[in-house]
Amino acid sequence: MVRQNDLTVNDLVYPIFVTEEQNESKIDSMPGIERIPERKILREIEEVELMGIPAVAIFPVISEKKKTALGEESFNSSGLIQRVVREVKKRNYDVGVITDVALDPYTSHGQDGILDDIGNIDNDETLQVLTKQALSHAEAGADVIAPSDMMDGRIGAIRKELEKQKFKNTKILAYSAKYASSFYGPFRDAVGSKLSLGGGSKEQYQMDPSNSDEAINEVLLDIQEGADMVMVKPGIPYLDIIYRIKQEFKIPTFAYQVSGEYSMLKGAVDQGWLPKNAIHESLIAIKRSGADGILTYFAKEIAQDLSYG
Ligand code: PBG
Repeated sequence: MVRQNDLTVNDLVYPIFVTEEQNESKIDSMPGIERIPERKILREIEEVELMGIPAVAIFPVISEKKKTALGEESFNSSGLIQRVVREVKKRNYDVGVITDVALDPYTSHGQDGILDDIGNIDNDETLQVLTKQALSHAEAGADVIAPSDMMDGRIGAIRKELEKQKFKNTKILAYSAKYASSFYGPFRDAVGSKLSLGGGSKEQYQMDPSNSDEAINEVLLDIQEGADMVMVKPGIPYLDIIYRIKQEFKIPTFAYQVSGEYSMLKGAVDQGWLPKNAIHESLIAIKRSGADGILTYFAKEIAQDLSYG
């Protein structure tokens, strides 16, 4: 009766890896999560809808031969994500579709942007491709477009293009405070960008884990450029950031409990080293810090517990 914070299924967003391969495949570093083949995606969304999870975030697994230095496949209007969104939106499920705007699944070098001659990210060149990618998602019918790349000025550029093309109702969820974190490894296994990335790092555009004021500035810029919602990522190691952002801006603030957080918890629970309740505790902690919604690979598992627990 006096409990201050509550976790409900309405707080959850389920990230889904979709592949062009014929069959599902396991991700070794993410037990319990699979890459879902395109032909089975509607069934997956139906399951999510039945559980009452309000939204999914879809990430593509692109075959190696389609990856290029400039990531052109990212804005192919009949590419994997564009096809999947179109199919899902035709059905009018009660599930919001969030798409990821970033180039890493599509580049041969695994970076989120285009490289210049000496191997640095060319920010402005990248914005042009991201804008085309975002527009192709909006055209396919995505409800929310989520730029996760952390390039400067991308929210403004994308917002301007969407307005120009009359996509006034497409929402933008900006990954505004995304840290150069070591917790993304299993995701990179899942989408196959780890191999492409090799020893490369993303410190040129993602934030230094030692910084917190910078996160406030990044969010401020993204709001000014037209973001509807903002995201902090990872989740548990950055609760102070979620808290500050929510306090400061009172804007819908999401947290991403990323792949490495999932793997740690899932691994320990599967081994019997931690009780399953640790998962729930991690999510309520994120909620308590001020997050309005949480992207988590536990969404389906936890939704079931919340309904029948
Ligand atoms: C890249 C992207 C990443 C994640 C979502 N979008 C990884 C990265 O920056 O390399 C990570 C999500 C996770 O770890 O679950 N655009």
